[in-house]
Parts: sequence; C-alpha cells; structure tokens
Amino acid sequence: MHRPATLSLKRRSSTDRLPGPRYAAGFGRSVALARDACHASTCAMKSALPPSPGDSQGTAPASSADPSVRDADPVVRAQGLVKSFDDAGRVIRVLNGASIMVGPGERVAITGESGCGKSTFLHVVAGLEPFDDGEVIVAGQRLAALSEDERTRLRRSDVAVVFQQFNLIPSLTVRDNVAFQARIAGRWDPAWGEDLMRRLGVDELASRYPEKLSGGQQQRVAIARALAVRPKILMADEPTGNLDEATSEAVVKAMNELVRFTGAALLMVTHSNALAARLDRRLRLSGGVFG
Ligand SMILES: Nc1ncnc2c1ncn2[C@@H]1O[C@H](COP(=O)(O)OP(=O)(O)OP(=O)(O)O)[C@@H](O)[C@H]1O
Ligand SMILES: [Mg+2]
Repeated sequence: MHRPATLSLKRRSSTDRLPGPRYAAGFGRSVALARDACHASTCAMKSALPPSPGDSQGTAPASSADPSVRDADPVVRAQGLVKSFDDAGRVIRVLNGASIMVGPGERVAITGESGCGKSTFLHVVAGLEPFDDGEVIVAGQRLAALSEDERTRLRRSDVAVVFQQFNLIPSLTVRDNVAFQARIAGRWDPAWGEDLMRRLGVDELASRYPEKLSGGQQQRVAIARALAVRPKILMADEPTGNLDEATSEAVVKAMNELVRFTGAALLMVTHSNALAARLDRRLRLSGGVFG
C-alpha cells in the first residue's frame, strides 16, 4: 500500500543548485549498461539547470551550441512530421504531417485513440526513431542533422523520457534506479533524489528491487528517475497508465509541480481527459496530425 505523493513544494536552498561531479565519484556501473538505459528509459541533462521560479529567463545559460538558439525558443519544434512503418510489406503511415511547438516550461498533453501514433511521435521527437519527412528541433538541435551518437548525447543532456514500459534496472534498488542517469550525467543530488521519491510516494520503497514493486510503483520510480537529472523537457508516455484514479491525480499534480519547479517543459501522452485538462494545452493526434 503506497501513500499518495507529497505535494507541497518548498524552495530548497543548497539543493536548488546542481551538485558537481563529486557525486559521480563513487559510481562504478558499466558504460554499456548506461547507454542501454539511456536509450531504453530516461536520459539526463549535462547542461545548466533551467531557470527556477523567480530566476529570470535571461540568466539561464543556453543549452545549445548554436548561438542563434535563444532560451525563449521552443524546446520542441516539429514541423510536417511523416513516419511510416513497413508491416510485412504493407506500409502503415502513422504520422502524416504532424506539427507541434512546445515552449520552455510549457506543459502539453497529447491524447488520441490507441494505435494513433502517440508513442511513435514521442519516440521520433526524442530521437529514438528515424522519420521519413519533416523537421524536428529539440532543445535547439535539428535531429536530422545529428549522428546516432549526437542524438544519444542530446538525450543524455536535455531530454528525459518515461516510456510506457518503465525499463527499470532489475539489479538496482529503487534509490539506485532513481540515481542512475543523474550519476552518469554527474548531477546526482541525493537530497533532490530523496525529495523526488517522497513527492512521488516511493520513498519507503527506496531499498527495494523493481521486481518487488507493483506496476504503478515502478511507474513512479521511472518518473523520479527522469526528473532526477532536471531535464529541459520531460516526455512521458502514459505515465499514469498503471495507477488508480486517486494516485494518478496525485502523480500528475506532483509532476506538474516538479516540472514547474525545475523549469522543464512537459509533453505527456495520456488517455485521461481529466489529466489532460490539468496541463496548459491539449493536442489530439488523429489521422497522423494534431488537431
Ligand atoms: N515497429 C513497428 N513496426 C510496425 N508497426 C508499428 C511499429 N511500432 C508501431 N507500429 C504501429 O504504429 C501504430 C501506432 O503505434 P503507437 O504505439 O505509436 O500507438 P499509440 O497511439 O501509442 O497507441 P497506445 O495508446 O495503444 O499506446 C500502430 O498501428 C502500431 O501497430
Ligand atoms: Mg502508446
């Protein structure tokens, strides 16, 4: 039995600033494992912390190498995205000119029928799936211009993804799963990690292994892991798909508050109209385009 996420947010002092690499010193997991996990689950940011509430936008260092990309530019800009799958010789066109813009700190819900392409869209925008046509710019980087390694680096630096499958690492405890990507990025802040676990209601499970957790508990650990690195954007694919209504409400409220607190944008796929209504904007994917 888990208790609901703790929702009150207070400004922290020392933990508002990301820790230096000293927290990474004791980290001895293999790079191969790290790379797999980065592809499969959440990815970390190396760049500067997005502005906290109260900070002016102008003081946050730009995360992109491109000096023409300003902080006020969209975190995600996808234009005319086309993506097809070849299913045993039959071409399925899932995205058919989909376009979207997500501003810094903006929280956008994506809804649509099962099979309409929501996960595919997130995978494309996260640079995990190639696309056939159109343009995607994420955190100032044009995906089509990046090599595989550069896309991996982008995901490690700016983008966090919570997938429909949580992809927790079975050999690590909840606490070490939460810390995993942040340690790779040299950004593990134990106080922030404990805070996240508490807010998401999994702090009492910190020493357990994923196999001992319910689906909903695993999902909340995956969310904590994604936020542990303070990404520029959090992409979440049905992050409450395994939760009961009350816990879903609490988790989405906590996610909302946490992304606001860190300044991250949120792109959330959900089947719940009620949860979608809690975000700034809602887009419906249908026929391969957003309406
Ligand atoms: N690797 C693949 N090969 C072939 N077809 C695929 C592949 N991945 C997805 N599809 C197809 O693309 C369509 C969109 O799938 P996707 O998983 O993006 O839907 P979704 O909107 O996320 O659905 P759900 O709400 O059920 O999660 C589906 O028809 C699916 O069968
Ligand atoms: Mg899906």
